[in-house]
Amino acid sequence: TKLAVFASGTGSNFVAIADAIANDQLDAQIEVLVVDKISAPVVQRAVERNIPVFHLKYKDFATKELAEAALVTELQKYAVELIALAGFMRIITGTLLAAYPNKIINIHPSLLPAFPGRHGIDDALAAQVSQTGVTIHYVDSGIDSGTIIAQQAVTIEPTDTITTLATKIHALEHVLYPTTLAQLIKHN
Ligand code: GRF
Repeated sequence: TKLAVFASGTGSNFVAIADAIANDQLDAQIEVLVVDKISAPVVQRAVERNIPVFHLKYKDFATKELAEAALVTELQKYAVELIALAGFMRIITGTLLAAYPNKIINIHPSLLPAFPGRHGIDDALAAQVSQTGVTIHYVDSGIDSGTIIAQQAVTIEPTDTITTLATKIHALEHVLYPTTLAQLIKHN
């Protein structure tokens, strides 16, 4: 399966997906990394692996829809079949959703529908809930609101800080994202 990964940040999930592919745990290829910021560290992770990077410069387009139309053209060049968002900090609109119906997946660091948005880890800690976790879901036009594919919980200990909780969440993400993608690909 030909994958595109979209990211805006560190790229630890991008690396986890690339490693799972290299270790034959995921029957896919990352055809292209899409970023909205060329300075994002994830770009280097792709360059090291000889994976093409496409920088979508949203501000070069009059509307987000036009930017996404250009992106669809780019994805079609690579015959992309499945899109994995991994820390991509932009809302996807109807242009991309219509081109890839049920083919855009996201990872979120909470047990959705609890704690959507940019600060899922911090918000769960601040809310003093006893557990949080990781969710893999289909993307729709809302914020972290699409159909859930897989979830796994993490216990919040009284001694947890944002740092310790984030470490546990990220470790779980790096297992759950590749395994969930592998299952989706196997059953399609
Ligand atoms: C992850 O916590 C993911 O759940 C969230 O953004 C973060 C991306 O981290 N959507 P990384 O760039 O993959 O390291």
